[in-house]
Amino acid sequence: MQIAIDGPAGSGKSTVAKIIAQELGFIYLDTGAMYRAVAWACIKGNIQLSGIDITEDFLKAIDIQFRNNKIFLNDIDVTTHIRTQEVHNMVSDVAKNQIVRQDLVIRQREIASENDVVMDGRDIGTVVLPYAQLKIFLTASIDARAKRRYDEMKLKGDNVSLEEIKKSMEKRDLQDTTRKYSPLKQASDAILIDTSEMSIDEVVEKILSLANEI
Ligand code: CDP
Repeated sequence: MQIAIDGPAGSGKSTVAKIIAQELGFIYLDTGAMYRAVAWACIKGNIQLSGIDITEDFLKAIDIQFRNNKIFLNDIDVTTHIRTQEVHNMVSDVAKNQIVRQDLVIRQREIASENDVVMDGRDIGTVVLPYAQLKIFLTASIDARAKRRYDEMKLKGDNVSLEEIKKSMEKRDLQDTTRKYSPLKQASDAILIDTSEMSIDEVVEKILSLANEI
């Protein structure tokens, strides 16, 4: 079975997707973390983001593995590195590159072909898994989403202001929804859930009950 969860930053996708996968005994695949890992590799490799310098060979040399709730890039644990403001600010530039998208979508489909999965991202219901049995589109107001990300980063000891987070989120939303390849968009057969006023438990319960109906 395939469950696709899409939506903008801070809509609660990854938190909810992780719990649902655990409850159902499915594999959870955080596709955003894969784009973030490539973004981190670009920063480290001083790669230009215009698209010209990201080559298929560069991507071929990148191995991405998820193990014990951690993400490894060529065996380096990048779990915390990919959640910094630097990566937040430039990941959309990497994600709009078609060479990157083609490469990562192949990896994502491969995992989904071998396992029951809950996959979250921006284009899962529209492009990666168009035949997923359950598609959810999570959303929430920009204020609710920025506040969640602010609380999350503050908890980690990151020193960023709510205003700064809101601005970078709005910029990323705009880039993600207007890019040429696989823009963030609700699939026509996805169920829309606005989580602004909902707790995590409520969202999880709702999606689990939809999954159980199938
Ligand atoms: O956690 P958050 O929603 O902030 O972001 P994420 O899911 O980690 O995704 C980071 C970025 O990767 C997004 O802003 C998109 O630009 C890109 N992305 C994408 O293009 N397609 C996906 N399937 C997942 C993420």
